[in-house]
Amino acid sequence: MKKDLLSCAELTVNDLNSIIELSQKLKKERGTPGAIKPLAGKSIGMIFAKSSTRTRVSFEVGIQELGGYPVVLDQGQTQMGRGETIPDTAHVLERYLQGIVIRTYKQSDVEGLAQNSRYPVINALTDEFHPCQALTDIFTMWEYSRGNLKGLKLAYLGDGASNMANSLMLATQLAGVDMTIAAPEEFAPVESILNRTGGAGRSRWTTDVVEALRDADFIYTDVWVSMGFEAEARRRMEILAPYQLNMANLRRAKPEAKVLHCLPAHRGEEITDDVMDSEASIVFDQAENRLHVQKAIMTLLMR
Ligand code: CP
Repeated sequence: MKKDLLSCAELTVNDLNSIIELSQKLKKERGTPGAIKPLAGKSIGMIFAKSSTRTRVSFEVGIQELGGYPVVLDQGQTQMGRGETIPDTAHVLERYLQGIVIRTYKQSDVEGLAQNSRYPVINALTDEFHPCQALTDIFTMWEYSRGNLKGLKLAYLGDGASNMANSLMLATQLAGVDMTIAAPEEFAPVESILNRTGGAGRSRWTTDVVEALRDADFIYTDVWVSMGFEAEARRRMEILAPYQLNMANLRRAKPEAKVLHCLPAHRGEEITDDVMDSEASIVFDQAENRLHVQKAIMTLLMR
């Protein structure tokens, strides 16, 4: 694997297979005397400029379980929040830490940190990408399909230009999963990412929910108003309303289709209660897998 995890675009099929294999092993071995401690003696910084429940807790617990020490920083309480440059911050932090996990707004800030740090940097969400979540989603689909990812159909409903849509397009291509995004013209997928993903695991875009859901094995949705987009809330809700994951839409997929959501869910907006709480919903298994997959990523990058 390359030094950093920034978007999923830097990963190869072999990298993805290594992440899946190690995630499974770490999940099985969790809490056993044989559990590996590849981060023993290492301190890992966790910089957060945005709210988080799953990412914050799963990384902090994961670092401790791998034998490392997590140093949690609220970006607003650091000198970064008062204008210290990204390169200066990187040069200072590499004197103390052996890796950085960062959740912030601009992808260019994460890339700048990576370019200026000799230690690995992991993107824990930006406005453009959420690679740890997308890799977790692939692992979750892998578990539920008993290791048969190739040719699976994933329907994604909602904002086709969101950080999750971007990262899922990249990750599904590596996995050979066919992703169809159902999104309105106003929230069409980013063309450069859609065009980049061709051949097996090629992503497609349609404005037609029924078409996207036909024969889907997994259905994915995400909040319509992500962190940083609050000013557009009313417009987004109106335009995205036909793309809600409700019972009528769930029934348009295969009878055994499973529902994924990266959470937090805005129940009654992008997903209804009956779907969230249905037998088809695997969202809490998906949330748990954040821990195992991020432990695998940190092990592969930081050991
Ligand atoms: N899915 C996800 O990243 O959750 P948090 O925002 O709670 O970290």
